[in-house]
Amino acid sequence: MSEQVLKSEAGQHNLMDYAKTYNNFDWEEAKKAFSWYETGKVNMAYEAIDRHAETAEKKDQVALYYESPDRKESYTFDQLKKMSNQFANVLKEHGVKKGDRVFMFIPRSPEFYASFFGILKVGAVAGPLFEAFMEQAVKDRLEDSEASVLVTTPELLGRVPENELPKLEKVVLVGEKVEADGRYIDYHAEMKQASEEFDIEWVDLEDGLVLHYTSGSTGKPKGVYHVHHAMIQHYQTGKWVLDLQDDDVYWCTADPGWVTGTSYGIFAPWLNGVTNVVVGGRFSPEAWYGALDRYNVTVWYSAPTAFRKLMSAGKEEIKKHDLSSLRHIMSVGEPLNPEVIHWGMKAFDLRIHDTWWMTETGAQLICNYPTVDIRPGSMGKPIPGVTASIVDDQGNELPPNQMGNLAIKEGWPAMMRKILNRPEKYQSYFVNGWYVSGDSAYRDEDGYFWFQGRVDDVINTSGERVGPFEVESKLIEHEAVAEAGVIGKPHPERGEIVKAFISLNEGYEESDELLEDIRQFVKTGLSAHAAPREVEVSNKIPKTRSGKIMRRLLKARELGLPEGDTSTLEY
Ligand code: WT7
Repeated sequence: MSEQVLKSEAGQHNLMDYAKTYNNFDWEEAKKAFSWYETGKVNMAYEAIDRHAETAEKKDQVALYYESPDRKESYTFDQLKKMSNQFANVLKEHGVKKGDRVFMFIPRSPEFYASFFGILKVGAVAGPLFEAFMEQAVKDRLEDSEASVLVTTPELLGRVPENELPKLEKVVLVGEKVEADGRYIDYHAEMKQASEEFDIEWVDLEDGLVLHYTSGSTGKPKGVYHVHHAMIQHYQTGKWVLDLQDDDVYWCTADPGWVTGTSYGIFAPWLNGVTNVVVGGRFSPEAWYGALDRYNVTVWYSAPTAFRKLMSAGKEEIKKHDLSSLRHIMSVGEPLNPEVIHWGMKAFDLRIHDTWWMTETGAQLICNYPTVDIRPGSMGKPIPGVTASIVDDQGNELPPNQMGNLAIKEGWPAMMRKILNRPEKYQSYFVNGWYVSGDSAYRDEDGYFWFQGRVDDVINTSGERVGPFEVESKLIEHEAVAEAGVIGKPHPERGEIVKAFISLNEGYEESDELLEDIRQFVKTGLSAHAAPREVEVSNKIPKTRSGKIMRRLLKARELGLPEGDTSTLEY
């Protein structure tokens, strides 16, 4: 444990005020911030966009600064309202109804945001997909969600196996030259025709909002289903943790294909009516420092991997830019190393605030916020209205400083409401009234939580969650691969990398070309971030008698750790 403490800062939304009611903070109270508290008319799109567009102060304020290597644009709340109304009209015209799943496989762009809110305005559930997904990853998600409409680009359409997706009725194509027919819809042409007025479909707080697929240690990716109710927590954490103020310029670096990119790249900032920066294209220190500088970003939310890359890019790169507008920095996705916090103090003269949560939890739960003292290496403390603890496998609370399962008491607003099509999977998260996260941690005497690792085999590479099963399934589709076991191997910059152990089929010889071919097979079939960076041929992949790959053993051997219980092992 680090002895050093970084003292608390002022922060606009002084948590000390909330602290008075900390133990009995009532999410019911927080509902009063929303128009639906009076009107009963619920829709996230209204609260995040239209509500601001209807005020004199916010109507013409820039809601979105968008920049990519070939575009630089900005849109006001009023413009986003109209664009999303147009898209809602397009969808309605094509028969999309409340509850339908509309997926988006399109890079971050103004069209993405117009479509996203258009989808919500017709009451449909939005399913954003990461643009780096390849055919298998796209198919699994569209199939499981039974999506009826997909918004994509002509370039990405090649990765959508349409003939294997009978439920997919329409495809909206965002591109220059689109040949429209009954099935293919030309985005730009239809947007031009569509009215800028739309009567929002009012929904129930418990109606579907977004679907995010995420990985566990077994099975296909899980469809984590979130509802409009979550906005209460997005809004509140936007104040307490993001410390958003009216004139802030906020930048969350996450892609909306991941939950951080929706909950904190879309909902939290816009519910709070702040100007939001979106930067497309690839990471580079120049592009990122440049964006902070050009837009005078005040509040910045990113990830340890990115900070570590910036750290290794050195001081000279920072000196080229004026970063004096920055006021508040946060991190999520993987452990935030104390040395990164210390680098942040030197580079920006600011603390980097770690935050902990998951796709399933929908919003931040354990955080460092402006008004807490930071203990570098700790994830911080639960936010008001959230009870966290460390429990054993039966759901009994453990005393301070004892390692166990990081668990949250049921009942926070942004919690997922189901795992699509898999009720038993959903139930398996809960033990004795606790949501059990799959992370191990301990809590110190003062209530700070310290992350220790995953309990399961889930891999966290550069902050992205990779399920070993999916990678193994893809690997054995390769003609040369007989069996595969996949683990996360510690890596200084990426946290972990994906490492695969494979055995080869008869007639195949190990060679650098073959291993590279196998790597490429996963990369082009599943996705780049899931492709193993290391592939090792091993004649004996350890398995249990029931045939399950023993990843724990592969990992122990890789790291030179004790092998533990091997009683179920059979070669
Ligand atoms: C897993 C969830 C929703 C945030 C993006 C990732 C790890 C997340 C931290 C943190 C250490 C962290 C956990 C968690 N994780 N934040 N601050 N410190 N580990 O969401 O893809 O659902 O992954 O990411 O292991 O269970 P996700």
